[in-house]
Amino acid sequence: MNALSPSLLPVMATPILSIKNFSVVYPSARGVKALDNINLEINQGELVVIAGVSGSGKSTLLRSVNRLTENDRAQMTGSVVFDGTDVLNASSKQLRQIRSHIGFIFQEYNVVERLPILTNVLTGTLSKTGFWASQFGIFKEENKTLSHQSLVRVGIDQKRHSDRASNLSGGQKQRVGIARALLQKPRLILADEPVASLDPITANLVMNIFKKINEEEGITTIINLHDPVLTFKYGRRIIGMKQGKLIYDKPIEAINRATFEEDIYGRPDAE
Ligand SMILES: Nc1ncnc2c1ncn2[C@@H]1O[C@H](COP(=O)(O)OP(=O)(O)O)[C@@H](O)[C@H]1O
Ligand SMILES: [Mg+2]
Repeated sequence: MNALSPSLLPVMATPILSIKNFSVVYPSARGVKALDNINLEINQGELVVIAGVSGSGKSTLLRSVNRLTENDRAQMTGSVVFDGTDVLNASSKQLRQIRSHIGFIFQEYNVVERLPILTNVLTGTLSKTGFWASQFGIFKEENKTLSHQSLVRVGIDQKRHSDRASNLSGGQKQRVGIARALLQKPRLILADEPVASLDPITANLVMNIFKKINEEEGITTIINLHDPVLTFKYGRRIIGMKQGKLIYDKPIEAINRATFEEDIYGRPDAE
């Protein structure tokens, strides 16, 4: 009777992502660090925007979380722990598992143009469907239903689901990418400049989808942006990167709107 109900127990914030003393050097960089001693913890359910000018290390940081940087033979030191698993020392099986929990959204829309919209979304279930089944177009009915729902969720009308992806606008292609990521039931969404190629109205529409998913499903989301206006509008916590270093990390409530651009990007006439 006296036992505390679970809701009264103190909430222990276990970070879903924990990055410690983490540095990255690309082989062609002659020792210059793309990331320089990054320390960062992201808690379950956060919506974080990473801001910084081009070349500051935003993509390298996101790509390190699921070891995509390895494709560029980057040398990584320090530690990255995702959901309790040591990413840098993960076996290939563990890495596949890590990647299956992370929905990655790129600036380039990454849809297969010749395939129908629905099939593009269904490939989000690939790790569960199996490669050969997908080659023969054998997808489970259940997954088809989920794909339709996921597309409707990001605002793509059911009437269009069997159209080819090539008929879509940039904003719609990006929404298909988000719908596909959702099919993975990700624990973490990483989006690398997802709206950089879109006009301002469409960019806001897409950013609102990320916001909605984060608020309604509590999926932890990290978005790289270079636009300060969108950064301030959508980030609940904003992290600033400069020349590979993490130079700024504040919740939106603690940010001074008047100085935040200068704090993160520096003064235009400096440097
Ligand atoms: N594949 C790569 N090979 C070599 N250098 C790279 C590669 N990707 C990025 N870099 C370098 O690493 C640094 C950080 O780049 P990046 O992470 O792409 O920054 P951002 O996403 O903020 O533009 C830059 O100096 C960039 O030139
Ligand atoms: Mg980048």
